[in-house]
Amino acid sequence: MTEQGYFTEETSADVVISRNAKADDARLKVVMEVLTRHLHAAVKEIEPTEEEWFKVIMFLTQTGQMCNDWRQEYILLSDVLGVSMLVDAINNRKPSGASESTVLGPFHVADAPELPLGADICLDQKGEKMLVRGRILSTDGTPLAGAKIDVWQANDEGFYDVQQKGIQPDFNLRGVFRTNEAGEYWFRGVKPKFYPIPDDGPVGKLLGQLGRHPYRPAHLHYIIEADGHERLVTHIFDPDDPYIASDAVFGVKQSLMAKFAPITDKARQAEAGFDGPFLEVVHDFVLAPE
Ligand code: BEZ
Ligand code: FE
Repeated sequence: MTEQGYFTEETSADVVISRNAKADDARLKVVMEVLTRHLHAAVKEIEPTEEEWFKVIMFLTQTGQMCNDWRQEYILLSDVLGVSMLVDAINNRKPSGASESTVLGPFHVADAPELPLGADICLDQKGEKMLVRGRILSTDGTPLAGAKIDVWQANDEGFYDVQQKGIQPDFNLRGVFRTNEAGEYWFRGVKPKFYPIPDDGPVGKLLGQLGRHPYRPAHLHYIIEADGHERLVTHIFDPDDPYIASDAVFGVKQSLMAKFAPITDKARQAEAGFDGPFLEVVHDFVLAPE
């Protein structure tokens, strides 16, 4: 597109877009064209006052000022706008039968310990005991031996270990497991609780102004990797959680519901190595071949 003449209310988007005509990076040029078109259309529809536009500028400024090495307020903004889940959906279109993905979230730790199958990831014995088990399969039903399962979860009060350094033991409620020859995995933990996304910054304030709560329903995080298959970043959710239908970041999918079944039978408790009641969560994951 060539220069469109002087800037007017009517021609604003075209004039800005034509000014970018010599951009070397074709992708950047397209991205800026689309963004400019939609942004100008939004401003024309909203007709903000100058004070309102300054409020937007200050919101973005405060969002940036809230960011540091461990707090990414822009990702939280993307999460509550539903953009993180939209980018996830676009980039993780799975073949039929494969498990669905959801957001990674900010609480993954890269160097969690590799543990033997059956290990208890709850290091402080607090919470309702839980056994999680299942299989990792390929879409044709083949069990995937040696698949890597990285799990992490909040505790029974809704906090991750990294949010409570000195209160929870380091690496509490996280671990890396490998499936056995039959593609099976199992580990112990405690029932997670719902929790608020970090809401002491501009994004939390925005949620409040919008009449929205900051909570995520109880879930367990998984990253699953197996040779020749696409990496899966996902969760399983408690379908009975009070926030299951209103996740602050829109991460819930019907296929990711798990059942937290209470096991009261003494023989089954003994067989599973528990000395009292526990919750059993059985969930298989199906990976898409690369
Ligand atoms: C999480 O599930 O850990 C999470 C995801 C998005 C924002 C905040 C937390
Ligand atoms: Fe989480």
